[in-house]
Amino acid sequence: MYTITLRPVGGTVACGPEETVLAAILRAGASVMFGCRGGGCGTCKMRLTSGQIAHGRCSAAVLLEEEKKCGWFLSCQARALSDLTIELSAANKYLRQQGGAVTTPAYRVVHFHKLALCDGSTRSS
Ligand code: FES
Repeated sequence: MYTITLRPVGGTVACGPEETVLAAILRAGASVMFGCRGGGCGTCKMRLTSGQIAHGRCSAAVLLEEEKKCGWFLSCQARALSDLTIELSAANKYLRQQGGAVTTPAYRVVHFHKLALCDGSTRSS
């Protein structure tokens, strides 16, 4: 079992070696943006800042090789190979239940189609 630390919102979730990062986050009671869960839409894209993952099946149209080199991955396909630290982007729209109350999201969705840059920023058209 590995630990995933979510930045900048804080908090950790446990992730088994056979489950995807997205499945672990959802199982932990958090809510993030996702779509097809098949590696084809890119909605679940997140950025790894430390740790090792196996990318799994990803469409090259939604996750470029250049993005992979910068740490971006599709959470619906990726599996942890170590403890991870993940940078959530504005499009992740993170929410988590805490004691029956939903925390106020630190972000709101602005764009779904974006280019992810190595410094963690994004550009949308
Ligand atoms: S939800 Fe569509 S690529 Fe992950």
